[in-house]
Amino acid sequence: MRTRLLAVALVAVLSATVVVVAAAETSANGLPSYTNGYQKWPKVNDKPILTDRLGAHNGVKNVYASKRKAGKKYPNGTVVVKTIVTPRTKYVGQFAVMRKVNGRWRYIEYERSSATARYTVLAQGQLCASCHVMAKSNDYVFTKR
Ligand code: HEC
Repeated sequence: MRTRLLAVALVAVLSATVVVVAAAETSANGLPSYTNGYQKWPKVNDKPILTDRLGAHNGVKNVYASKRKAGKKYPNGTVVVKTIVTPRTKYVGQFAVMRKVNGRWRYIEYERSSATARYTVLAQGQLCASCHVMAKSNDYVFTKR
């Protein structure tokens, strides 16, 4: 009986681990799987963004959000992606992501050196948050519909 209980507990722990691993899963291109299919999400900007406001994210940019704002805020689980075609290139070389978890945005940005290279992490966390705080009135998202 005791062994059986232990086995049940073990299975529960194992499946919980699988769920956690799945949530942080990385796609073949190096981007987190929660950004998969972003090309079909509603675009937040009308025209490509060409300016480098505040000196960040230099290039030709488009912003996509997986969910629409509900009132003044984006709901939990929203993923906002910004693709950046960096100067003098023709491919998306930087990929910036904001994801809302428990009411707070998590920030991470990836880069790659060619159209076929795998993405690696460029920067994340406080560095991003410290600037995005300037867009606090729009839930930390600069780009508006
Ligand atoms: C110095 C200020 C600054 C820093 C630092 C910064 N950003 Fe941004 N970010 C902006 C601005 C301004 C925009 C609006 C679009 C544009 O002009 O490129 C933006 C846009 C974005 C967007 C599209 C949604 C939106 O807010 O419009 C994402 C996603 C994003 N940034 C992620 C990041 C991540 C991840 C980092 C850290 C690696 C980061 N940003 C660091 C200023 C900054």
